This record gives sequence, structure tokens and C-alpha cells, in this order.
Amino acid sequence: MLELRDADVFYGKAQALHRVSFAVTPGDIVALIGRNGAGKSTLLRALAGAHALSHGERRLGGEDITRLPTYVCSRRGIGLVPENRQIFSNLTAEENLRLVEVLHPRGYWTRERVYALFPRLAERRKANGVSLSGGEQQMLAIGRALLANPHYLLLDEPTEGLAPVIIDAIIAAIGEIHQQGTAVVLVEQNFKVPQMLATHFHLIDSGRLTWSGPAGQLDEARDLLIVARH
Ligand SMILES: Nc1ncnc2c1ncn2[C@@H]1O[C@H](COP(=O)(O)OP(=O)(O)O)[C@@H](O)[C@H]1O
Ligand SMILES: [Mg+2]
Repeated sequence: MLELRDADVFYGKAQALHRVSFAVTPGDIVALIGRNGAGKSTLLRALAGAHALSHGERRLGGEDITRLPTYVCSRRGIGLVPENRQIFSNLTAEENLRLVEVLHPRGYWTRERVYALFPRLAERRKANGVSLSGGEQQMLAIGRALLANPHYLLLDEPTEGLAPVIIDAIIAAIGEIHQQGTAVVLVEQNFKVPQMLATHFHLIDSGRLTWSGPAGQLDEARDLLIVARH
């Protein structure tokens, strides 16, 4: 299990997370939903070790990893795909993937399996990062994270701004990644994509979790999200 317990995160004097407790278990697809500025990206980065906690703990498999830096968390199997995707735009798609592959031990996810997951990316393997479409960049960013063979994959708004046909490809891929044994945390601003995938839902507003529950109780959460927006 990967979890935050009573986590506070600050940017300077501004508090972005207030006593957040959040857990993802192997086998889960957990959705984190909230409007712009609610604290979704901060929570995701806090899970990945990219923010210091000023209160609370980060734990992995029962071990306290609060003070481990991001690269160690990454080696322990926490893979983050940030909103800005962080691919190398002056390298080709193939080079971007090779770079990660040489740095990590082999596992289920190889370059060939990433290309099988995203055939569109396979066709564009020789294209420079800068010339990839938004959807292709997202596929590449997910592919890069997979080559580290994470136990937990944290996706920050992976379908934002993408065409419906590409969104469908990303949804199918997340399903496949989960099937292969990786737990997923999926951040989105609305329910549309997560409701096709997620087993558990968390709502966040102003840095506080306002509702958590299984997919079966979502109707309750929908009302809360509407209340939180007005
Ligand atoms: N680098 C930063 N410096 C200062 N404040 C930030 C920074 N990043 C985010 N914030 C603030 O923290 C809050 C949560 O932001 P964020 O986690 O990015 O929200 P979301 O991903 O839900 O849109 C917002 O009020 C935002 O303005
Ligand atoms: Mg965000």
C-alpha cells in the first residue's frame, strides 16, 4: 500500500494540503477529482516524494518513506507522470524511451510492449518529441514511466485537452496497465474518464479531502462535488 497520513504541504506560507490521508492498494485504480487549484497535483507529487511534508507521513508497504527523495521513491516503484509530461523534446520518441530503459532493471514493460500498448506511438517512434501531438506526448510520457516498471503509476490529468479518439486510447491503455498488475492513481477535474476505470474515488477541495468511497457510492459524491463548486 502507498499512503499519505495526515499530510500537510505548504508553498511558502500558503498551505496547499490540510491533513490529507490517502491510500492506494495494489490492484486499485483510485481517482482523485477536484476543480482547478484544489490541490490534486500537489497531492500526487506528495505521494511520489516530490514535496516535503510539514506534517504527517508517507508510507510504502508499511514502511515510513517520508524523508526519502523522489528518485529513491521512483526506484521503489512509484512512477509519476506529471501534467507537463517532462519528455525530452529534442530527442525522438524512441530515444526518450531508450533513455529510461537503460537506467532501470528489466521487467514486464519493455519498449516493444509500450509500442504494442500505443501503436500510434510506434508509428511515430522516429519523430522528435517537439513534433509529437499532445496525445502522442502523453503516450510517450506514460511509456517512459512504465519502463521503470512501477508498482504504482500516478497520472496527472492524462486526458486533458486531448481528442476523444485519443482519450479512448489512453483509457484502454490504463485498463491494460492495471491488468498487468500496476495500481493507478488517476487525477482528473471531472468524473467522465475516471468513472470508466476507477474502483475508488476521492474528492478534494481547497486542499482537503471532502469525500472518499468506492465506485458504487459515487452518486453521493456527485452531489458533493456540485456543492463544492458553488
Ligand atoms: N509552485 C507553487 N507555488 C505556490 N503555490 C502553488 C504552487 N503550485 C501550486 N500552488 C497552489 O497550491 C494550490 C493547489 O495547487 P495544485 O495542486 O496545482 O492544484 P490542482 O492540481 O488541483 O489544480 C493552488 O492554490 C495553487 O495556486
Ligand atoms: Mg494540477
